[in-house]
Amino acid sequence: MSFDLVLFGGTGDLAWRKLMPALFQAFRHGTLPAGGRIIGVARDDLSDEQYRALIRARFDEVDLAKRPSPEEFDRFAALLHFLRVDLSKPQDYQRLAADLRERNADTVVMYLATAPSLFTAACEQLAAAGLNTPNTRIVLEKPLGHDLASNRAINETVRRVFSEKQIFRIDHYLGKPSVQNLFALRFGNSLFEPLWRRETIANIQITIAEDLGVEKRGAFYDQTGALRDMVQNHALQLLCALAMEPPINAHADAIRDEKLKVLRSLKAWTPQALAQDVIRGQYSAGNVAGEQVPGYRSEPGVNPDSMTETFVALRAEIANWRWAGVPFYIRTGKRLAGRDARIVVNFRPAPHAIFNSPPGAANRLVIHLQPKDGLELHLLAQGQDNRQQKNAGQSLSPVHLDLDFDKRFGSGRVGAYERLLLDVIDGRLNLFVRSDEQEEAWRWVEPIMEFWRNDNTGPRPYAAGTWGPSAASAMIARDAYCWSEEC
Ligand code: BG6
Repeated sequence: MSFDLVLFGGTGDLAWRKLMPALFQAFRHGTLPAGGRIIGVARDDLSDEQYRALIRARFDEVDLAKRPSPEEFDRFAALLHFLRVDLSKPQDYQRLAADLRERNADTVVMYLATAPSLFTAACEQLAAAGLNTPNTRIVLEKPLGHDLASNRAINETVRRVFSEKQIFRIDHYLGKPSVQNLFALRFGNSLFEPLWRRETIANIQITIAEDLGVEKRGAFYDQTGALRDMVQNHALQLLCALAMEPPINAHADAIRDEKLKVLRSLKAWTPQALAQDVIRGQYSAGNVAGEQVPGYRSEPGVNPDSMTETFVALRAEIANWRWAGVPFYIRTGKRLAGRDARIVVNFRPAPHAIFNSPPGAANRLVIHLQPKDGLELHLLAQGQDNRQQKNAGQSLSPVHLDLDFDKRFGSGRVGAYERLLLDVIDGRLNLFVRSDEQEEAWRWVEPIMEFWRNDNTGPRPYAAGTWGPSAASAMIARDAYCWSEEC
């Protein structure tokens, strides 16, 4: 099958940091269909050769294991082309159209790895140049808008030009092998399903912690913040995967219908919940892995009086029969104590104690998403021979069943962007987000944005290298629970 993948923003950060390495990995793994072209598109004036040289130089900055040898790069580089396109100039789209028409590939993928403010204009221009043919797919990177209204405006324009089955909205968390394993755990095994409900589960915690700061994206991040950057999309998609009902099959719409129901069932915010159950924080200077790092307000591109949050912790509830009353805690932030994304499912303690168990001990399932990818099941067992002690033989200690997917399946597993790009080329929509899901997620976070706009106390400071403001621990402690690293 021949394909043309047109990468708008072809010289940008996302292209060289994530997309090119992912395409190269697919090429190396032999999964990139033969007969393809990858066409970088940007305003720069570059020849194919200059573009290849630029990408080659950038590969020096990606993970060593993912770096190509010179010979390998040359073979990959034969797929790379460059076309100068100014997104505001109709004649440039005409040139692109002429190039694509000449080749007449089976599939054409338009990947908009540009600022979202350009999406609407780009789609209209693509249509005007006759580039919205049935064999064309369009890929939109997050963030898709900055609130519900702007998200809708983008989606409406894109849908005027392309049908929903041509639109691939990326949330790269859905492409992570660990997140796919979450679906496999829930819907490929029958073991947990009877336990996956309010009667047995006390609370669920979703943590996406990063040790990095805002790096070179200060200006973008300062307009965005953790709620829009991580909660509205990645964290809520994880929550959907955890809370959704089993879909009737593995087709895209069956999965998306169930995720949508979860988003629609999220309990609406009350003024009291907004004041108590959402904590925002901003990192100040601190120490991360032995290195002194500056505070957020001193990062390049960030307003020195910025009120933007780099941390959010919140308590959500899902109002349906399966989950009523079970708190779902979501927490994400930059410059936290480590890079660690995990889901912790805390089961209810045994209903009647006949053993001596450590205080608060109960079963727990830890789903490690990154950097480790695996499952840990915490059980209580009688390990030591304690006949000499009082209550002989009756004291239990925690033990773990530990499953390491990297060890089990090897580290050559397909990465998130690699997987998603191949899915776009193959036309598989399962791991992409539908517009109604996105809108529902925006609808749910908007009251938080509104509340913060009117609350000038601003985000709570936390020292870089910690787990965020202590208010996040106080929030969960009100339910008599604690974050998994604290208990
Ligand atoms: C992106 C956010 O969507 O996800 C970034 O914009 C964040 O701010 C990144 O750093 C995290 O992705 P990952 O795959 O490194 O967890």
